This record gives sequence, C-alpha cells and structure tokens, in this order.
Amino acid sequence: MHSTILVTGGAGYIGSHTLVALLEDGHRVVVLDDLSNASPAALARVGEIAGKPVQLIRGDVRDGALLDQIFAMHPIDCVLHLAGVKAVGESVANPQKYFEINTQGSLALFSAMQRAGVARAVFSSTATVYGAPEFVPLTEAAALRPESPYATSKLAVEYMLAGFARAHSWRAINLRYFNPVGAHPSGRIGEDPLGEPANLFPYIAQVAGKRRQILSIFGNDYPTADGTCERDYIHVCDLAAGHVAAVNYLLNHAMPGECPAVNLGTGQAYSVLQVLAQWQATCGFDIAHQIAPRRAGDVPSYFANPAGAQSLFGWRARQDLARMCADHWAWQQQNPHGYNAD
Ligand code: WQD
Repeated sequence: MHSTILVTGGAGYIGSHTLVALLEDGHRVVVLDDLSNASPAALARVGEIAGKPVQLIRGDVRDGALLDQIFAMHPIDCVLHLAGVKAVGESVANPQKYFEINTQGSLALFSAMQRAGVARAVFSSTATVYGAPEFVPLTEAAALRPESPYATSKLAVEYMLAGFARAHSWRAINLRYFNPVGAHPSGRIGEDPLGEPANLFPYIAQVAGKRRQILSIFGNDYPTADGTCERDYIHVCDLAAGHVAAVNYLLNHAMPGECPAVNLGTGQAYSVLQVLAQWQATCGFDIAHQIAPRRAGDVPSYFANPAGAQSLFGWRARQDLARMCADHWAWQQQNPHGYNAD
C-alpha cells in the first residue's frame, strides 16, 4: 500500500536515511525541517539514491498554522516525528531550549494532527530515558530514570503521545534508539555534526580523516572488561529499516489506542577500545588516541534487549560493527567536510 508519511526532521542524520528506506519501500514522503542542524544537500542526495525528488517544507515544528497548512495540502497517513535537539550536555546548560523545541514542538505537532484527523505517529525517543540501568540488557519494561533535560524532554513526549493515542484512538509507537552510527553504503549521506563532534563515531572519523588530531578516550577505569564504556551501536540503515517496519505496523496491524515503547538496538555492546580497534582495522592505520578523564554523566555499560521490535513488527538489526565502521569511514572520506562543499 502506498502511503504518505510526514517526516519532521527529515533532512537530519537519521531522517535522511529513513527517507531512503521509506521511498525504497514505496511510500511517499513530505519533509518538514527548519535546517537548524541539517543541510538541503542531504535531501537532494536522498532523491538521487532513491531516484525520486524529495520535497522540503522549511519550517518550525512549533508553527501550528504551517502544520495546519501541511495537513490540509497533503493526505498524510502517518507522521514520523524526528525533529528535535539532541545534545545531552547542552540540555543541562539550557533546559529551556530542550523543553521548547522537543516537548512544546511535539505538543504543537500532535495538536495539529488532532485538528486534521491524522491518527498515526512514530516518535523518535532515546535509550537515555532509562538512565543508569539496574539490569542489562534493557527491556522496554526497565525503570525510567532520565538524568538530563534532554532525556526528560523526550520521555515527556512519550507520555504525551500515549495520552493522545488513548484519548483519540491513534495508533502510535515510541522508538527508543540506542547509539546510531554509520552511513548509507553509497557514502552519499551520513552524519554531519556542527562543530566539534560530541559522539564517538564522528570523532574517530574526523581523527582518521586528519580533520582532528587525537581522540580522547573518556575514562579507562570503568567496571567493564577493558575499563572503557560499553554501548549498543546500531547501523543507521538498520535504524531506518526499523522506522519503516514501525510505520507499516501502524498502517496494517496496530490496534487503535496503542502506543508501545520499542527499543531499536542490536543487543550487543562494544567498548570504546573495541570500537577503536575495529576502526583501525577498517582504515588500515593507527588512529591517534589518549586516555582522558571520565566524561560527566557517562554510565559504564548499557545495551538493548531488542526482542520487542522483533515480536511486534518483525524487525532486527543486521549489520555488524565492521560494517558500521566501513560505511562511516566511506562517508567521511568522500565528504571530509560534510555537506559543506555542496
Ligand atoms: C559513546 C562512548 C563516551 C566521544 C549519546 C547520547 C544519547 C544518544 C547517542 C541521542 C562513551 C565515549 C565519546 C569521545 C569517548 N543520542 N567517547 N571519546 O554518550 O552513549 O550517547 O549519543 O539520543 O542520547 O547521550 O554516545 O558516542 O557520545 O559516547 O571516549 O570523543 O564513547 O565516553 O563511553 P553516548 P557517545
């Protein structure tokens, strides 16, 4: 069935990969993005990969009048809500920004959906809603202990979406991402962080690409096998496929009123040193690194139990760490300055 999906934040890292997957699955897409942390070049390249042009509506997800216009002009079957801000550290310093954009933005969007009678939504949430876990792997039933305004702003939206779903018989899903990395195998779209990367993969990529001098490993005295933190890294194309599976589930199988939370992870954890070793094997040279003090707020280890996504909508991650590094490295090499050159 061909459906029309509104993707907020569609020009971003996860959004662009998700658009490719949606288009390849036969869906039509409409993108709303304010380009605050994204480039229109990403959408042009999505169009290239998928062989179909992608229309951008440039605007703010908090703009109710614009949302009303979009829903009036396009027969939207489902909304994929990815637009938001995502820097944990920044959210501690500036919580207002996170509640305005993430939480108020979502309220504006869900309210406009309600006015327009659009009754399906997938929300881009995060595994940081779990905070420091008591047990791993994390199932969706694990305790929720968000530790930053970023995580709180996302969890508030999960509850909000569940409330709208129950009240108005929507079909909805909250997707909790673990650590998305990698890039499309074409090397044409990928993660293009503004300024100094805050995350491990883009940082290593820029050191490998000689754009930065040295990787700092934040702590090697954690209670893990090699002393460095362990995370559940997931290939961004697997994550994108998870969105398509979630959308198709909402279109074809979900019950009105339901709004489950679903982990998108691999179920496998790798330490910072294991990731670095794989990067070095992929590149074929040593990547400069040093041990640095712990970064505030990091927890030693967490990873998903991804069984929920498998049983609900038949999805599981397929790509291994070697593939994540190879695809991320190809993107970095082909686009040493991100989309800037376009
Ligand atoms: C991974 C590991 C670092 C950089 C964050 C967000 C989370 C989610 C994904 C959105 C940690 C170490 C990192 C570096 C390092 N985003 N590291 N040197 O912190 O698990 O998750 O991104 O939802 O919300 O919190 O990912 O990639 O920043 O760090 O040693 O230069 O790499 O300490 O152990 P994190 P990350």
